[in-house]
Amino acid sequence: MAVDQDRLMDFLGRFVGDLGATMAAGNVVVGDRLGLYRALADKPAQPDELAERTGTNPRYVEEWLRGQAAGGYVQYDPADGTYSLSDEQAFALTNPDGAVYAPGAFQLALGALRAEPRIADAFRTGSGVGWHEHDTEVFVGCERFFRPGYTAHLVAEWLPALDGVVAKLGDGGRVADVGCGHGASTVLMADAFPNATFVGSDYHGESVRQARQRAGAAGLDGRVTFEVASAQTFTGGPYDLVTTFDCIHDMGDPLGAARHIRGSLPADGTWMLVEPYAGDSIDDNLNPVGRVYYSFSTFLCVPSALSQPGGYSLGAQAGEAAGGHRRRLHPVPPGRRDAFQHRVRGPPVTTV
Ligand SMILES: C[S@@+](CC[C@H](N)C(=O)[O-])C[C@H]1O[C@@H](n2cnc3c(N)ncnc32)[C@H](O)[C@@H]1O
Repeated sequence: MAVDQDRLMDFLGRFVGDLGATMAAGNVVVGDRLGLYRALADKPAQPDELAERTGTNPRYVEEWLRGQAAGGYVQYDPADGTYSLSDEQAFALTNPDGAVYAPGAFQLALGALRAEPRIADAFRTGSGVGWHEHDTEVFVGCERFFRPGYTAHLVAEWLPALDGVVAKLGDGGRVADVGCGHGASTVLMADAFPNATFVGSDYHGESVRQARQRAGAAGLDGRVTFEVASAQTFTGGPYDLVTTFDCIHDMGDPLGAARHIRGSLPADGTWMLVEPYAGDSIDDNLNPVGRVYYSFSTFLCVPSALSQPGGYSLGAQAGEAAGGHRRRLHPVPPGRRDAFQHRVRGPPVTTV
């Protein structure tokens, strides 16, 4: 082995950064859960003050703050020993409804990592791990990770970019939000278009239960309904608009979903398909964003698709051309296929 010292040090620098980030993920989620960031955004503080304001233990808070400062997540003033958040740090760390919300992303990551033993096992067997089999933090983290982007862009930019859709929804069109998870996108659209009706669906019963709660809390009772159904079986068409947000690549049978969606649209209907931005070649995606998505995809998206019938597993960085490739890695074991079929035969549409 001819180890080049400079290249080794470069690699070790990367490794130390990653190790710090890995442990910092837990610290970000703790800071979010306990309101430490929000309290710091209100007013700079020394550790004792911050602990007092948040009802937490000063020694823990002191250590947490030091790690946060070392990672560039908070500011430290050695002159008086106070910690604070810059406007930019506060923007990304304290507002779940803002355009970027970092704690939600870390919550999703930590939740996904809890499945590590199962994922390692799935590498050996080739079997899948269904979305519904993950820790609850994955579902909540996913909602908090994606909702800020939907809040910032969905109503203001994405829907207006579609031919004639805003006019139809303004006049009372019908929308199906497929693979809706906790219904963040469904609620945003329903809130913006009071004359339209919305049906959210997802194969995961617990997510649908949460989506109903979110819609109820937003005062959308009656105009928004949800059903437990797969993208290949959802009901209630014809729809003027079908939306799929970050879910087609999680499916074993995206082609079946596409056919079913097509069948639920009239000739002038629209399917808005939102997927993570990615290039078509692997090289195009070898960057920090690609790393984030490929890494999430290994734990969440590929195992989800492999747990379902269909034979596809596009992954979260599929790129537009990938729709033409059939990425069959292993046949889905019959037991899993039956379990999925059973799960998606859920109750019919239920009003919120
Ligand atoms: C990454 S989450 C996105 C959830 C939601 N659309 C959002 O943007 O917050 C993927 C969702 O797809 C759902 N899903 C996966 N396979 C599905 C299928 N075959 N039919 C319907 N939903 C599916 C999962 O249950 C999960 O809620």
